[in-house]
Amino acid sequence: MESIYLDHSATTYVRPEVLKSMISYFSEYYGNPGSMHRIGLTAKQAIDTARKITAEILNCDPEEIIFTGSGTESINMAIQGIAERGDHIITTNTEHHAVLHTCQFLEKRGVEVTYLPVNQKGLITPEQVEKAIKKNTKLITIAYANNEIGVIQPISQIGNISKKRKIYFHTDACQAGLYLDLNIKNLNVDMMTLNSSKVYGPKGVGMLFVDRSVKIRPILFGGSQEQGLRPGTENVPGIVGFATALKIGQKEKQKENIRLENIRDYLIQELLKISDTKLNGDPKKRLPNNVNVSFDGVEGESIILRLDEKGFCVSTGSACTSRSLEPSHVIQALYGSDKKEIAHGSIRITLGKKTTMNNARNFVEVIKDVVSGLREISPVYK
Ligand SMILES: Cc1ncc(COP(=O)(O)O)c(C=O)c1O
Repeated sequence: MESIYLDHSATTYVRPEVLKSMISYFSEYYGNPGSMHRIGLTAKQAIDTARKITAEILNCDPEEIIFTGSGTESINMAIQGIAERGDHIITTNTEHHAVLHTCQFLEKRGVEVTYLPVNQKGLITPEQVEKAIKKNTKLITIAYANNEIGVIQPISQIGNISKKRKIYFHTDACQAGLYLDLNIKNLNVDMMTLNSSKVYGPKGVGMLFVDRSVKIRPILFGGSQEQGLRPGTENVPGIVGFATALKIGQKEKQKENIRLENIRDYLIQELLKISDTKLNGDPKKRLPNNVNVSFDGVEGESIILRLDEKGFCVSTGSACTSRSLEPSHVIQALYGSDKKEIAHGSIRITLGKKTTMNNARNFVEVIKDVVSGLREISPVYK
């Protein structure tokens, strides 16, 4: 049985054009970009070109792009490279654990952190951010789009505030790469994280945009690669593949967003017809590919396993926490931690390039049966 993959926020496949762009850098132009000979220089040129392509998309200078090994690494660099003992960071309570756990680590080292609470739709307001600013606020770090419920935060307005108040602003744009405006001048950000494995690029590559005015310290030490900020031999094929994937994604964005929004809205409409079902996150201010719903009286994990048997791959939330029994911190942030059952019953359906309306129709039929079957044997569903 062929599986229908509806978990594109966890990761995407590598598209064939991307794979093709990478191949020669594994076995033909395999030199170290730091070497002075021809094979090394060819590799260096490939990275330079990838940096240029990426910078054009972000509307920044190539020197402001730092290639890393993942979204998590870029986020760590942006936060740990800026905040020191006595500084204050503003973030939200629905960030990815790459942000939350880094902030918690820094709290133990004398950094103060404010975790802004989101509203029931998963959103924060620029006013909340402005009110939280203190004399020692050094950094604001807020995700562009949430990885579990797909809601889109008002980044550009928050950026206006941070500029006015001369506070560094980083956005985690890992989920935004294919769908949202990446022009850093429109977004008013000083730093922005992207990763390759969410945009049909290879895994193990990330990127941090760092505005040239930002005084950032390296968090790893070694060679002088990547403007001295990220030591280690560059992942040449990965970087080439990442830039190729971003470029193709940008070209397809407008048309693909409309197509996905149609399927997303159909799914939301049909899933909400199942009784005692809730949509998590704002219905419109969300990524075109994200649906996140909670079903009363059933466990998200049970739904996922049954759907998998029937050929549909979805998830309960972040792939990074799927092995933990703790219910989603994002869904709990929407309704309060006393409503853990809503978080327990949530599933995330994330669409991609190969998802069709027909897939969505079949999915709706199957999930209706799965939910009613599980509710029949549920001790908690009335
Ligand atoms: C919003 C967000 N931030 C950070 C990350 C971490 O990225 P990576 O897995 O590349 O380290 C992810 C990946 O799931 C994400 O969705």
